[in-house]
Amino acid sequence: MSSPKPCSRPRIEIDLVEIDLAGALRRATAGVHAEIERLPLMSRLTSETATLDDYQCYLRAILTIHAPLEQVLYDGLDETVRDRLGVRPKLPALLADMEEQGLTFDRPVPAVAPAPLLPDDLSARVGGLYVLEGATLGGRTIARHLRRLIGEPLGSTHFLDFHGRQTSAAWKGFTSGLNALAAQQALIPDRVIAGALAVFAYVHTRLEPAAGT
Ligand code: HEM
Repeated sequence: MSSPKPCSRPRIEIDLVEIDLAGALRRATAGVHAEIERLPLMSRLTSETATLDDYQCYLRAILTIHAPLEQVLYDGLDETVRDRLGVRPKLPALLADMEEQGLTFDRPVPAVAPAPLLPDDLSARVGGLYVLEGATLGGRTIARHLRRLIGEPLGSTHFLDFHGRQTSAAWKGFTSGLNALAAQQALIPDRVIAGALAVFAYVHTRLEPAAGT
């Protein structure tokens, strides 16, 4: 007698939807990024005549962005999401660079600007973090450029060169985390993009008047 056939189970196929949210963010924000690069303060920083004064001016302007914004973006950010994206606040690095440059303030972390009106949801916050995290890509290049022009007085550039040699790896980790969270439907792509655009608009607003300082 032949042995009974193992009962066949219906095959369940799970479609893992691949979502290139990182690519969509890049395309959606390319215009405002290019505008920021063209702002006088940024043009000065990347010019062949950039000075230590320009760098200090940049640190001051960036503080007005990070001091109020990071807390808003990190508040209520799920620990799992935070770990998946591999992000951590950059404000301590910025304050260390400012201290090194002898730039002091009345309060250690001045609340110099109101936080931007971000939609209060996880997706929008992650969109904002995309902006702050992506800035490390250009930051490393700018740090190298400034070091060539200014040398030793430039100091440690903890903020500009936030991930140092790990810059590419950190960015790869961030974007793959972003895409994975979107594929799991933990993030809503349109909301992430809306958050990124809101934060980029805020960054532009803060860096524009810094031009003449
Ligand atoms: C002079 C100023 C700046 C320069 C020269 C610059 C340059 C760059 C460069 C070279 C990249 C890498 C592009 C690539 O890998 O193809 C990049 C990416 C990026 N930068 Fe900037 N950047 C500047 C300012 C900023 C600022 C102020 C922010 C936001 C606070 C920012 C946010 C980003 C973001 C989010 C990305 C990632 C784009 C992507 O999705 O690939 N950048 N930047």
